[in-house]
Amino acid sequence: MSGEKIAILATGGTIAGTSPIPGDNLAYTAAQLRVEDLIASVPGLAGVPFVCEQVAQVDSKDMTFDIWRSLAQRCSHWLAQPQIAGLVVTHGTDTLEETAFFLQAVLAPAKPVVLTCAMRPATALAPDGPQNLLDAVSVACLAGAHGVVVVCAGTIHGARDVSKRHTYRLDAFSSGDAGPIGYVEQGHLRLSRPWSESLGDAPAALQKLLQARRWPRVEIVMSHAGAGGAIVQALVAQGVDGIVVAGTGNGSVHRGLEAALCVARESGVQVVRSTRCVEGEVLPRPSDVLPRSAGLSPVKARIALMLALLD
Ligand code: SIN
Repeated sequence: MSGEKIAILATGGTIAGTSPIPGDNLAYTAAQLRVEDLIASVPGLAGVPFVCEQVAQVDSKDMTFDIWRSLAQRCSHWLAQPQIAGLVVTHGTDTLEETAFFLQAVLAPAKPVVLTCAMRPATALAPDGPQNLLDAVSVACLAGAHGVVVVCAGTIHGARDVSKRHTYRLDAFSSGDAGPIGYVEQGHLRLSRPWSESLGDAPAALQKLLQARRWPRVEIVMSHAGAGGAIVQALVAQGVDGIVVAGTGNGSVHRGLEAALCVARESGVQVVRSTRCVEGEVLPRPSDVLPRSAGLSPVKARIALMLALLD
């Protein structure tokens, strides 16, 4: 790390949120503070050489493809600088797992890209953002770290496995069966498994992304008691490019919905079958009629399908 710097890129989220009611954890507006304010709130960062950039300022529920494209471009720019050891990206928690998966798919970086966040706004009685930011910088400084990871509540999660599991708790993320990559404890890292792995041909995916004329339209539909085919028929009529179905249990799909998905497939719409279960992955069965999502959750299967359909 000697002579090298960390690039801290901000995109908004609760970590940059403020409330007019001091100490309130819910009545706040996300994405208010700028990256310089976030850095100033962490005295421990004083000794770390860094550069910073405000890439976006958004509540992550409103994440857009254009922001994703800019973020991928800016990450790619900073990763290519020899003096940059790693990146930290501040982000809202609500779509953090999607951005992490997207960035790993298009960058698969040889340096660490560490996404971090907060569950409480900066004006909370005990905000979690400053500690998360400090922990994220510790990970970004670590020799040998690579790939896109998420750091929250002292835990390091891989981009493929991480998902938000709790609406309110500070430790809101889980890596499910895979378990976390490791933990950050007082600036020290305790690793329990390898860093994030490549999700395919990242350079080709980035190239396609930067040249794409439009984003493919891929929607998620859910199977549930009483599900039918009307939503699928409406999507096909609107020219949808792909559909991910969040099936029940081991990816099973209500017969009414499944019939409509099969018709959609015959008309050229790409269909992928995931599960609405938060743990486990869809395993093959002889009776399967729709392709599986390779262990990806519905939101990540959607991103993988969108990237595959980019032209
Ligand atoms: C957001 O996702 O931007 C708001 C919620 C959060 O960061 O916890």
